Amino acid sequence: MGRDLKAGVCAAALLLALGGAAEAAGAKTSAQPWMNRKLGPDARAELVLARLSLDQQIALLHGVMPVFLGPKKPAHVQISAGYMAGVPELGIPDLTESDASLGVANAGRKDDDATPLPSGLALAATFDPKTAFAAGAMIGKQARQKGFNTLLAGGANLLRDPRNGRNFEYLGEDPLLAGVMDGASIRGIQSNHIVSTLKHFALNDQETGRMVLDAVIDEAALRESDLLAFEIALETGQPGSVMCAYNRVGGTYACENPFLLTQVLRTDWRWPGWVMSDWGAVHGAAAAKAGLDQESGQQLDKQVYFDKPLKAAVTSGEIPAARIHEMAHRYLRSLFATGVVDHPLAPGGLDTAADGRVAGRAAEQAIVLLKNGAGLLPLAKTARRIAVIGGHADVGVISGGGSSQVIPLGSKSFPKPKGAPQWGGGQVYHPSAPLAAIRALAPGAEVSFSDGADPAAAAALARSADVAVVFATQWSTEGMDIAMKLDGAQDALIDAVAAANPKTVVVLETAGPVTMPWRGRAGAIVEAWYPGSRGGEAIARVLFGEADPQGRLPVTFPTGEAQLARPVLLGSDQNIVETLTPSAAKPFEVRYAEGSDVGYRGFARSGETPLYPFGYGLSYTAFRYSGLKVTGGRTLSASFTVTNTGRRAGVDTPQLYLTAAPKRRQQRLIGWSKVALKPGESRRVTVAAPARMLADWDTAAHGWRLDGGAYRVAVGPDAATAALTGSAQVTAAKLKP
Ligand code: BGC
Repeated sequence: MGRDLKAGVCAAALLLALGGAAEAAGAKTSAQPWMNRKLGPDARAELVLARLSLDQQIALLHGVMPVFLGPKKPAHVQISAGYMAGVPELGIPDLTESDASLGVANAGRKDDDATPLPSGLALAATFDPKTAFAAGAMIGKQARQKGFNTLLAGGANLLRDPRNGRNFEYLGEDPLLAGVMDGASIRGIQSNHIVSTLKHFALNDQETGRMVLDAVIDEAALRESDLLAFEIALETGQPGSVMCAYNRVGGTYACENPFLLTQVLRTDWRWPGWVMSDWGAVHGAAAAKAGLDQESGQQLDKQVYFDKPLKAAVTSGEIPAARIHEMAHRYLRSLFATGVVDHPLAPGGLDTAADGRVAGRAAEQAIVLLKNGAGLLPLAKTARRIAVIGGHADVGVISGGGSSQVIPLGSKSFPKPKGAPQWGGGQVYHPSAPLAAIRALAPGAEVSFSDGADPAAAAALARSADVAVVFATQWSTEGMDIAMKLDGAQDALIDAVAAANPKTVVVLETAGPVTMPWRGRAGAIVEAWYPGSRGGEAIARVLFGEADPQGRLPVTFPTGEAQLARPVLLGSDQNIVETLTPSAAKPFEVRYAEGSDVGYRGFARSGETPLYPFGYGLSYTAFRYSGLKVTGGRTLSASFTVTNTGRRAGVDTPQLYLTAAPKRRQQRLIGWSKVALKPGESRRVTVAAPARMLADWDTAAHGWRLDGGAYRVAVGPDAATAALTGSAQVTAAKLKP
């Protein structure tokens, strides 16, 4: 009785409170009609703009980097990438921006915990948009909990060169894979009613000279490669904002490039959001005319261009006031469209244990088994002596540096190599030690560790063990490019260990492709990328067969630099390390003569054999494909049967490639499927190719052209293996840009 009464009282109080709130909301919407959620984002933005003077509009168009505010930094503003004051009296919140490629970046915030995802390449290796969505949703949730309503995430630059220092933030070499995965992750982030960016638009495909280089490429090739990745990500993710890049494209800086910002983004793709600059990427107020809407990190530019100079350009008539209105409109409409205005932040409630599980699942799905000689893996839990060597496996797993760096509590930092950029906290190892994880999964074994500093001692330890597991790392960071090899003397260490014990498993924690001079001598090779907050556990689970290795390479592993489109990295003669201050480097051109033949497409054309092809990855079981049926018409789809012919359950990723079109020969990934199968189980799968993936960009006609005729396809486990081939007739069509 007492309890019922209490419940009744509570319910009545709630009803009263709700009634009051509804009344208050009603009063608020009549005083602030833009708070009416039934109106569309454009209408709401216009209602706000009607209350803003030109100066107030301009104030929304440039933001600061809090760290440079010094004592002037308001107490509520956190140290993070960016901040822009809102219009509190109108209910427009501040824009609080955090870097985010792989989590809520937190360098410079003491005692701040955050959960790092595995690297972007790792995420792409899952070939699973659901995993990308979950990953995005997790970091978006943490952003809200930490007081950020904008994540500077969504890096979709194509991997054109394995030496690009930021490859670990991006999603590989294929436009369809990168676009689909990036779009899913952006959707996940924005499912938290915050903004995600899509960046760096476009062709910021190497760090060397990023502030000065001019990327030159034919328009059709650009539309079919780098821009296609952005286009697909934009359509699927609907990001509130796009961040333009540092470099020039076709002679003009990306952030003042009318072709990129107005023609492509706004006219062709009909995207309604706002373009923010990269930090220190604005070179004048005139950028506004080309389509830039907001100057970010304004202290990094030579002047704050989008304040007084922008106003002066309006006063002189150089920039119409209507353009300022449009810039502010795009900004405000994104804040309404994503839910930033309607869902104010309520920081708190971080649950890194649960969030770590999301990161751990992604890491596990991303691990690629490259070699498994004599069925060395999975390791038997009954192994008596296991030698674990190198890679700071006793400490944790390596991560990439730069603005995206996430440093969870318990991380450990080692010194950076000489000449690395100033920012960040050294080479950060996330606190998920593979050594401890291996010990936990093999409680009966004697698991010894050697740090690998002395190769002879490591080899002696390996010789005395049943199996040796060598961890090898490659550090990478924003601001500089890297060599396509393991850091330091690790190749020699692996050689020494493998010579001592043929049962040597090499676990790579690399930014991307590396050469493997010891490949023939290693028993097994596992690519674990930068595996994030639970990386150690994920690696151990795959090593012991608790999880099937189901990652597939989102990038070709070439045999060496000689197989790259540009064997010598352009600009490397200048020894440029990019900081955020204006660059002293001499401008140079990077001509992408390979056009849209990036990665595996180039290999298909040249006929050369890489170290490992795009899409490659072994399982602990085996799969067979049969019964291909290709259907044509307005687009193309392929149905086939996948059978698990082995004795373990496993997950496969059969891939569908276009190999020839009526007027063109070019290999293209046009779809894939992910199938989990029990031993002996078969499943019929259908993969449908989006029509645009079959089409060519027709520059003269300004649209996609689908030639009518026979389209040939191959189904295979990777780009270099055509297990099944077939063809179908596709009808000619013109597709909108
Ligand atoms: C990077 C961006 C980043 C920005 C803000 C720049 O150096 O290129 O990716 O979002 O800094 O930290």
